[in-house]
Amino acid sequence: MNNFVFHNPTQLIFGKGQLSHLSAKVEQYGKNILLVYGGGSIKKFGLYDNVMNILGEQGCNVTELAGVEPNPHLSTVRKGIDLCRSEGIDWVLAVGGGSVIDAAKAVAVGAVYEGDVWDFYSRKARPTKALPLGTVLTLAATGSEMNSGSVVTNWETKEKHGGPTTFPAFSILDPENTFSVPRDQTIYGIADMMSHVFEQYFSHTPEILLQSRWMESVLQTVIENAERAIENPHDYDARANLLFAGTMALNGFLPMGVVTDWASHSIEHAVSAIYDIPHGGGLAIIFPQWMRYVYKENVGRFVQFATRVWNVDPTGKTDEEVALEGIAQVEAFFKKIGAPTRLADYKIGDENLDVMAEKATPFGPIGNFKKLEAADVKEILRMSL
Ligand code: NZQ
Ligand code: ZN
Repeated sequence: MNNFVFHNPTQLIFGKGQLSHLSAKVEQYGKNILLVYGGGSIKKFGLYDNVMNILGEQGCNVTELAGVEPNPHLSTVRKGIDLCRSEGIDWVLAVGGGSVIDAAKAVAVGAVYEGDVWDFYSRKARPTKALPLGTVLTLAATGSEMNSGSVVTNWETKEKHGGPTTFPAFSILDPENTFSVPRDQTIYGIADMMSHVFEQYFSHTPEILLQSRWMESVLQTVIENAERAIENPHDYDARANLLFAGTMALNGFLPMGVVTDWASHSIEHAVSAIYDIPHGGGLAIIFPQWMRYVYKENVGRFVQFATRVWNVDPTGKTDEEVALEGIAQVEAFFKKIGAPTRLADYKIGDENLDVMAEKATPFGPIGNFKKLEAADVKEILRMSL
């Protein structure tokens, strides 16, 4: 196990009816608020009114940044930064899924930075300060509610990059706020949170015994609850387990002392930068192919994955057969829950393989389990067609 420092400052407020905590947050952070939300789902299922009622009771002055796109646009972030400056905003409240939260994070750091906010995504600068940010999460997927990452797309240059921004000061997670998540988005969220664990699990770091078991248990929890939530969207316990698993999958807890990978995320970001596909859908397609491309780097790790997570019976089989059976199980699971499995499902052909491979590796080779050059990425994309 490697040395590590673990620090996560986000206060997690979890469970039914927890929105009531918002009043105390207004006292703490101020009354002049930028409310950030997406295309209107929160209005349809009543969360917008509930939030506005609480803020109204507290006498808040609310400015709105509405219409944040899935795969949020840099141009929308810039609008939010302008609003913060012109309205003298005290703090930012994001109500929505990962895209809304990511855009709000970018606004929170961009509003107090003199340069261009894209500097944080193009690795020209690292943020050192931010407006306080609170979130009310509505979709179990990204973990953005309890980490400092943010992913934004620059449509002028067709680049989608993640950057370090700021941790939310608090995040309110009520599983009931995820009841209305449509079937496809529920599936994408499941694929995304499982992929986050994969990115951290496939590692050469020796003796990561506890972390491995944490990761395996997160995966098993997601596998056990996935179909329950897809078939019965109002199943509180299934939604709660997925919501908590999604947060724990990417809040820095699992990979303490572990060298992580993240190549598949870079590849997916390159695909969505061109085709604007849902992040979790892209990962469901790419990850099994990445696994097939890299498993020989550490077959033992894949054997552990197959036997512990997917209960593959190793009797009478070679390690390689067990490893490949585990990978086949991943693919079969994604198929069973209704996730896409080929790029063709999004009508993506081989027309942009070179462009995507270059976009996935703008700062050099990606990944740690196996270092991938553009040519490797191209091959994985070809296997995903
Ligand atoms: O826009 P609205 O109307 O809110 O609708 C959204 C959107 O259409 C809808 N939705 C969300 N909650 C809902 C709901 N519909 C009904 N009821 C609800 N309760 O779902 C659609 C997708 O929302 P989005 O926020 O885009 O999904 P997700 O949470 O999967 O976020 C994806 C974005 O996060 C980035 C991805 O790249 C992508 O841009 N990621 C962020 C990460 C991070 N910050 O740590 C890590 C991830 O790996 C990921 O890269
Ligand atoms: Zn992801």
